[in-house]
Amino acid sequence: MNYRHAFHAGNFADVLKHAALALCLTHLTRKDKPFRFIDTHAGIGRYDLTCDAARRSPEWQGGVARVMEAQRPAPVEAALAPWLAAVRAANPDSALSAYPGSPDIAASILRPHDRMHLCELHEADCRTLDQRYVRDARVKAERRDGYRAVSALVPPRERRGLVMIDPPFEQRDEFVAMARAARTGLERWPTGTYIFWRPLKDLWSSERFDTGLAQWLLFEQAFDPDKILRADLWVRELETEGKLAGAGVVVVNPPHTLEGDLLALLPWLSDLLAQGEGAGWRLDGALTPESLTDGI
Ligand SMILES: C[S@@+](CC[C@H](N)C(=O)[O-])C[C@H]1O[C@@H](n2cnc3c(N)ncnc32)[C@H](O)[C@@H]1O
Repeated sequence: MNYRHAFHAGNFADVLKHAALALCLTHLTRKDKPFRFIDTHAGIGRYDLTCDAARRSPEWQGGVARVMEAQRPAPVEAALAPWLAAVRAANPDSALSAYPGSPDIAASILRPHDRMHLCELHEADCRTLDQRYVRDARVKAERRDGYRAVSALVPPRERRGLVMIDPPFEQRDEFVAMARAARTGLERWPTGTYIFWRPLKDLWSSERFDTGLAQWLLFEQAFDPDKILRADLWVRELETEGKLAGAGVVVVNPPHTLEGDLLALLPWLSDLLAQGEGAGWRLDGALTPESLTDGI
C-alpha cells in the first residue's frame, strides 16, 4: 500500500468529489431522522497542507486554493456552500493550511444523533484517523478492508445514509473490487445513497465500470435511470500520460437537487481549474444505455 492521499489532498478531483459528498450529506440532514455515513476508504480525515508531502506535491494549489481565491457567482457559491463551510472550519485563521478529507467534511455536517463508520486499511493512517475522532461519539474508525466491510455494514440500523467508496486505484483489479462492492451494497440496501469515485485514466475501465453498474441497476434491479448520476471533470486532455487529468463520481440514489447544483458548478470548475488545452466536464443526470455509449 503505497498510496498516500496527503500528496493529492485538495486537488481538482477532491474538489468535485467532496463538493458532491457535502451536498449529499447536507440533503440527508433535511429530515430529523438520523442517518449513517459509511466511508470504506477513509484516509486520515484531515490533511496538513504545510507538511512535506503537500509541499513536494502542491496539487492543492491547483484545486482548493484556486476555488477559495476566486470570485464565485451566486449559484456556484450555493452549490459549494457545504464544502466551503468544511474548508473554512478546518482553517479558522483564514489562511489555507489544512484540507478536510471526507471524514472531516462529514464531521462538519453530521448532527449529534447521526453516525459515521470509517474504514482504513493502512495501519498508521488508521491510527491517525482513530486518534482524530477519539472524542467524537458519532464516529467509529476501524482498520479494515473497506470492500469487505460493505456486506457487514449495510444496511445500517438507521436505514438512511450514504456509502462512499473512494479507493486509491493502485491495484490492477480496483475497478472489479469496486463493482463487486457496489453490487453487494445495492443488493442489501437498494435505497441508500452511494458515491463511487473513479479516475479517468484508463478510460476503457472507467467506462466499463459505469456501463456495468448502470446496466445491472437498470435491467436486473429495475432501477429508475434518474437514480444514477455521473459527474466528471478533466483539467486537460484526457489522453495524456502521467499525472491524473480527470476524475469524477457516479452517484446512485442522488438527492434530486444534486444535478442542478452540479450543473451550476461543473462549467465554472472546468474553466477555473484548467491546466491547459482540452479541459472539460460532463454531467449525466440519468444514466441510460444511450448516454453510456456516447463516451467522452
Ligand atoms: C483516495 S484515499 C481516501 C481519501 C478519503 N476518502 C477522502 O476523501 O478524504 C484512499 C485510502 O484508502 C486506503 N485503502 C487502500 N486500500 C484499502 C482497502 N482495501 N480498504 C480500506 N482502505 C484502503 C488508503 O490507505 C487510502 O488512505
